[in-house]
Amino acid sequence: MANATAKPAIQIQPDQQALFRQAAQRVAELLKQTLAQRPQAFLALAGGSTPRGLYQQLGQLPTSLAPDWQRIQFFFGDERAVPPEHPESNYRMARETLFEPLGIAASQIHRIQGEAPPEQALADYRLRLQALPQQDGRPCFDLILLGMGDDGHIASLFPHSALLAETEHSVCSAELAGRGRRYSLSLPVLNQARHLLLLVSGAGKAATVQQALGTIPAQPPTLPVQQLHPQQLEWFLDQAAAQQLPGENVS
Ligand code: 6PG
Repeated sequence: MANATAKPAIQIQPDQQALFRQAAQRVAELLKQTLAQRPQAFLALAGGSTPRGLYQQLGQLPTSLAPDWQRIQFFFGDERAVPPEHPESNYRMARETLFEPLGIAASQIHRIQGEAPPEQALADYRLRLQALPQQDGRPCFDLILLGMGDDGHIASLFPHSALLAETEHSVCSAELAGRGRRYSLSLPVLNQARHLLLLVSGAGKAATVQQALGTIPAQPPTLPVQQLHPQQLEWFLDQAAAQQLPGENVS
């Protein structure tokens, strides 16, 4: 059940490498907590470029900190309509930085078939999402990782996009101006996650972070990221991305 009142937890690290290390430890901790109670954990990965460093750190965790990767089912929060070998593929990025280094079996990986006709890609992914525990007819992820664009988009839910308003389907798709076709988990699925971790790095996003988290009085929540209200939301920021938050003096 989405929780519209809980304040998000905010972790700020001095630099990007510290951000990746701390976020990797937190992801591992959350997955281990799930596996202590359930036979397997359902994780949705973020796309874009920022998570590369996080996935590399996950692949280098000492055994004592790492979850049992064989008990994790890997999904994607969003994908571009490109083949799995394409440089823009979120699956390819995860394969290179996480799946191959950890030796993740193909049976644990559930990618969105960006190369397929949209209806086929949607049908396949919706079927895969049926394997998760369901709540209100929607899949309930144990953990969803997300990045954020400098316009406040999350996954492929962009400001003013019809995908942001999708409530019927768990995964949706549209041709987006200047970005080609995208696939995305819908906002209700993001908000139904037991845990959601937002990873944001760099000065270029500081103004958006401030708008999303700052103390601008009475500004309506217009950014897609401001519509996230899962059970537990944690922001992982580096100092550069947090520099416009109240009290964050950047030396
Ligand atoms: C994608 C991502 C997208 C990404 C943000 C931030 O497929 O592009 O899912 O939501 O997280 O655009 O991207 P960067 O990490 O590259 O800044």
